[in-house]
Amino acid sequence: MYTQPENRNQTEKLTLTALAKMKAAGGKIACLTAYDASFAALLDTAGVDLVLVGDSLGNVIQGHATTVPVTMDDMVYHSRLVQRGLQRAFFVVDMPFLSYSTPELALANAARLMQEGGAQMVKLEGSGHQAEIVSYLNQNGVPVCAHLGLRPQNVHKLGGFKVQGRGEAAGRQMLEDALLLEQAGADIILLELVPQALAAEITRKIKVPVIGIGAGPDVDGQILVLYDMLDITPGRRPKFVRNFMAGAASPRAAVESYVNAVRDGSYPAPEHCFD
Ligand code: KIV
Repeated sequence: MYTQPENRNQTEKLTLTALAKMKAAGGKIACLTAYDASFAALLDTAGVDLVLVGDSLGNVIQGHATTVPVTMDDMVYHSRLVQRGLQRAFFVVDMPFLSYSTPELALANAARLMQEGGAQMVKLEGSGHQAEIVSYLNQNGVPVCAHLGLRPQNVHKLGGFKVQGRGEAAGRQMLEDALLLEQAGADIILLELVPQALAAEITRKIKVPVIGIGAGPDVDGQILVLYDMLDITPGRRPKFVRNFMAGAASPRAAVESYVNAVRDGSYPAPEHCFD
């Protein structure tokens, strides 16, 4: 409570190049969400490689049923808090619902997240249709993570939170989208709720790091919502989430155990995966 994150010793900041090297070396990238400075500092010093201010803050911080109500001002506010806690971890911030519906709007909002919020990269929920936007951001020097598979901002179109990419046509479409977005300049692909075999194929065919959530073990890294893996989120725990607080002496120990489990490949286990 009394530690000033700014006063900790300077640690080398992870870059996109460092994450790409981890993929090339077959290492696993451990990622988590954070929404405030104290948890950000805990994650950073526990060895988390990438911290995301997810628009999941709409659910776990604001108590909404979906991420749709989250605004740009919300994202900027939480990014500023998280940035103060980070020294080493690569820092990614979500673009909220309808904040990237045209290339110009996407660039103006990405600029806010980077200049006011300190983001090193923005994440948007994509499909092949977002290639023009990703390309425009890329041309303007904005690193982009493209989020494929289940895209929670589309929940009202999808009719619920369901596994995506099942069946040959849907799987092929997701692979094509991933390749298109990579070609447009996406620097990281994130796959949410995707069958294990499809996620493995996309990871093999994509050169940039692929981070999974509910996408099985054969991707380059894992991400979870912090409050889910610490068993704070009320309600039913999704199948792909392990409760890392079980048997842990503290939240720090739980996060360290997550980092170790991602690195040694023991998380996700078969019970966390989808066919
Ligand atoms: O908003 C979020 O926290 C996310 C993760 C679930 C990847 O997008």
